[in-house]
Amino acid sequence: MRWFFCLGAPYYYFSGDDMDDLRETAVQQVITTHWLGRSYRYFPSVGSTNDLLKEAADRRLSQLPAGTVFLTDYQRQGRGRLNRRWDSPAGSSLLLSVLFRPAWPAEQANWLTMLACLAGAEAVEEIAGLSVHVKWPNDLVVNVQNSWHKFGGLLLEGNLGDDGRLQSAILGIGINVNVPVDQLPETSFPATSLLAIKGRPVSRLALLQHLFQRLETRYELADSGQSPQSAWTRRMMNVNKRVGIVQADGTDEISGVVTGTDEWGQLQLRDDDGKLHTFAAGDVTLH
Ligand code: BTN
Repeated sequence: MRWFFCLGAPYYYFSGDDMDDLRETAVQQVITTHWLGRSYRYFPSVGSTNDLLKEAADRRLSQLPAGTVFLTDYQRQGRGRLNRRWDSPAGSSLLLSVLFRPAWPAEQANWLTMLACLAGAEAVEEIAGLSVHVKWPNDLVVNVQNSWHKFGGLLLEGNLGDDGRLQSAILGIGINVNVPVDQLPETSFPATSLLAIKGRPVSRLALLQHLFQRLETRYELADSGQSPQSAWTRRMMNVNKRVGIVQADGTDEISGVVTGTDEWGQLQLRDDDGKLHTFAAGDVTLH
């Protein structure tokens, strides 16, 4: 049993010790990648790994290599999409950010979110044996007893150069691994963790190792020009389902049937008049 003290509040949980050690030495011993995660820093606690990695990348300009990973056991100000919070009990989850330097055109930026969702889904399937789906635009979900639950999310923050290309991008990944049921966040879309689904703890170290490998492979495929679109569409939880979508600018909800995404990961939906709508961002609700 390990104890963690965060903001004065004690937490404890049972873990398999070594399988849960995510410090530099433990991680470097198990990873199988060529470049992703070879530059790796562990922090017991931070504000947000995305913010910390962004500051480090800005300070050191081009010196921080592509594939650099910052990972923490606890975030005081973990951030999600649309300015939402991302909270996890200390030592329970995978909370990391990865630096990429893609030089891709701006419209291709979404590929990073898509390929990271695929890598996360594949790693969880390999380690926990679950069937994982994706919820547009950036969620990892599972279906438990006919009800969808979210256990992971991606947060992409990029920097465009004067040439309109993606100079650097920071991809934040949060996966609820061993969050006990009574400590899951209360969110509009129901949250879960791998522990809650499996009924036993899952090795964060093994999951991280598989995640790194999948992420490196998927990134290299995308970098060679192969779109993640078809693999992503196959995993979408709501293809051919009726949904409503609200855009960030607060315009009225549009409802219709999801047909998939376009090549750039924008959601496509056919309304009742047969008109096809394409969305770059928004919040989707299953009807
Ligand atoms: C979402 O579902 O809205 C995205 C959640 C992303 C959370 C991760 S945890 C590591 C990284 N640091 C952050 O502050 N956020 C991302």
